[in-house]
Amino acid sequence: MAYYHRMGNIPPKRHTQFRQPDGSLYKEEVVSSKGFSGIYSTLYHINNPNEVTAIGKPKPYSWKAATEHGLKQTHLKTSNVEFTGDDYLSARRNLMMNSDVMMGICSPRQRKMDYYFKNADGDELIYVHDGEGVMYSQFGKLEVHKGDYIVIPRTTIYRFEFEEKGPLRLLIIESFGAIETVKRYRNEVGQLLEHSPYCERDIRPPHELHVEDKKGEYLVQIKKQGMLHQYSYGHSPLDIVGWDGYLYPYALSIYDFEPITGRIHQPPPVHQTFQAWGFVICSFVPRLFDYHPLSIPAPYNHSNIDSDEVLYYAEGEFMSRKGIDRGSFTLHMGGLPHGPHPGTVEKSIGAKATDEYAVMLDTFKSLQLTTDALAFVDENYPMSWTE
Ligand SMILES: [Fe+2]
Repeated sequence: MAYYHRMGNIPPKRHTQFRQPDGSLYKEEVVSSKGFSGIYSTLYHINNPNEVTAIGKPKPYSWKAATEHGLKQTHLKTSNVEFTGDDYLSARRNLMMNSDVMMGICSPRQRKMDYYFKNADGDELIYVHDGEGVMYSQFGKLEVHKGDYIVIPRTTIYRFEFEEKGPLRLLIIESFGAIETVKRYRNEVGQLLEHSPYCERDIRPPHELHVEDKKGEYLVQIKKQGMLHQYSYGHSPLDIVGWDGYLYPYALSIYDFEPITGRIHQPPPVHQTFQAWGFVICSFVPRLFDYHPLSIPAPYNHSNIDSDEVLYYAEGEFMSRKGIDRGSFTLHMGGLPHGPHPGTVEKSIGAKATDEYAVMLDTFKSLQLTTDALAFVDENYPMSWTE
């Protein structure tokens, strides 16, 4: 994360004696990235975080590539899906992947997790398309709302409690590299610059410490290398009385992303929200259209010579696409040009504004559909530019 944050009680000097009311030491844990060269946080546990009581049999947890899908402009219709599984982990349906990133949906029947999850493979970016709830992690309590991006650094131990009423629909992006704010919007010490579409005031770290100090049986399911490893502890992993540092989960609402507009069509990088190894995430939000007297608000045709482009359509009317619903994904693969559907370019001329919300994932390596995605493929989409 881009700035220093602290919660709860911590000793004035790191790596020094910090005692519990009974006189025993709190257990210090440094959670660091890139060896000891990246961002890190220091946590103070009541119990020893290494004190495992049982290790169960790991469960397979991976996705297969649908290699037969081939080179095709792709539309996945997931808008009518109510549930994708029973609980948070069994409901995660990855739909596209490469060696840097996976992207999928998650609409679990059970709104409250009765275990903890730790992703040891990668950072997670969860976009809350529908739903309201609370994320409890070692770093505290974070209320999450519809429209939030939740950035969860790898190995954060967490559980969600979502409200029972209303739909719950999550878009989950799992990155094998760190998910970060956009470098060109940061100054040399990491502060977000004036021309950044969002700033530190929009970033919401955990707002309340959450200490679980009761003994009992606590299960942490750890995702690592295609398996869910089953770790049991005699204490809660959320036994942190204080922490400080730069590494922690946070939320950023798509509703706080300020669009950059121009006289003529602005390219996708103006919508960039996050960066990671091998991909970027962009947010398309309601904005005024281009104001040159002869401007064409609809995008031009373009060929991605070195990237694949996924759009997840969240809300509103998409002026350049026909047959797209709330909850649709389009995947426009590198190697083929793509552009607005017939009739939408002329129709866009003179339009003053758009009310669309969409999340875009642009990858530098090619994506493959997973076999889970095949059930959602719109077979007519590749020919949909031909009238
Ligand atoms: Fe595009």
